[in-house]
Amino acid sequence: MDYLKIKKASSLKGKIKISGAKNASLPLIAMTILAKNSVTINNLPNVADIKTLLKLLSNLGALCNTDLSNNSATIDTTTLHETKATYDIVRTMRASILVLGPILARFGHCEVSLPGGCAIGQRPVDLHLKALEHMGAVINIEAGYIHATAPKGLKGCEIIFDKITVTGTANIVMAAALAQGSTTIINAAREPEVVQLCEILNANGVKIEGIGTAVLTVYGTNGNLLDIKDFSVIPDRIEAGTYLCAAAITKSELTLEDVNAKHLGAVIAKLEEMGLTFSITPNTITIHPAQTIKHVKIITQEYPAFPTDMQAQFLALATQAEGTSIIEERLFENRFMHVSELQRMGANISLNGNVATIEGKTKLSGTDVMATDLRASSALVLAALVADGETSVHRIYHLDRGYDSLEKKLQAVGADIQRLKE
Ligand code: EPZ
Repeated sequence: MDYLKIKKASSLKGKIKISGAKNASLPLIAMTILAKNSVTINNLPNVADIKTLLKLLSNLGALCNTDLSNNSATIDTTTLHETKATYDIVRTMRASILVLGPILARFGHCEVSLPGGCAIGQRPVDLHLKALEHMGAVINIEAGYIHATAPKGLKGCEIIFDKITVTGTANIVMAAALAQGSTTIINAAREPEVVQLCEILNANGVKIEGIGTAVLTVYGTNGNLLDIKDFSVIPDRIEAGTYLCAAAITKSELTLEDVNAKHLGAVIAKLEEMGLTFSITPNTITIHPAQTIKHVKIITQEYPAFPTDMQAQFLALATQAEGTSIIEERLFENRFMHVSELQRMGANISLNGNVATIEGKTKLSGTDVMATDLRASSALVLAALVADGETSVHRIYHLDRGYDSLEKKLQAVGADIQRLKE
């Protein structure tokens, strides 16, 4: 197993190229199930989760010509014949549920292993299933599998999500794309990753109204497969936000390239409150250091509010802010596993339910720490950049699920970080 050995950084300097967004790539790869042609996707991040989904599609019979070192994959789903996403893959990546909507829409039946629990919370998929039932699917849960059938095809209807769900919205948009008639999704997710999925479908024969709003209307093609043109994935706003935190915590100036600052509104606003300043162009962000980092109050919410996927990184940053910071996690009930590891490094954090109170500024000391989920891993890397001595971050397979070449990108801007074998 790999781990990262990180020494305290004096400061970082230079440019970091941001990769394509993992959470945009996953639904877009699943979307190719709706195509009648082979589709090349560019700007895919070279991360484990993308390989997992491509493997799942290959297992189902798709032909995937993958060149992730060049960030592209050509996917031909015309040969897809299996409709069962088995436990061995789904247990390694919950986002496998994204094949449910498109396979059901195309074949009239689909089986997906129930994802089960997760390190950051229960993460049920009931809203996906309820919405598909509204569209006429019959759903049974048997022996750990979701069995969904819609022999007469899915039918457009009105769906009101009780809660905003990102992959739930993506799943239903894809199911609705081939349905009979129109589907209106109320309380839809507005994340940029959902927006890109809708824009690509809309540009390839599926009319969608309300893109980027909480009410989406998808006009289905009545079973006609789509002719999807090649496209490129949007930049990863969470990867970008993580490197902005790396610059902020080390009091460095960094320029991020191939990034869209519009997707980072809430993140940049919080960093500004903390004293950081920015120079922004249409595809770059330069962050200028603040000699004193101010404390902050954060509540995680759905886009366009502050993202839960940046909570752990800001928590690490808050340990270096002057005064008391408060971070409330509203999306996932167990997304504070990094707190105990940061405490082991010397952070002064108290947890009360879903609220973390961070007293700063504290001196952190390098030690052995364990990554517990993807974003928790990056929070530990951030803390390690300012901790005295040396920190070893173990179980970085979590990190490898979603950060493309993290140690290489940080090395290139001057960090002392090495990937080693246990
Ligand atoms: C997506 O997960 C992201 N994953 C997550 O990114 C991200 O943290 C999350 O959205 C929130 O922004 C991908 O895009 C692949 P949700 P998703 O359905 O879609 C509850 C990362 O680090 N809910 O929007 O699974 C759920 O429990 C990851 O990259 C139900 O109750 O999240 C949560 O409390 C981790 N029933 C809330 O809704 C459902 O059927 C939002 O979850 C579905 C969700």
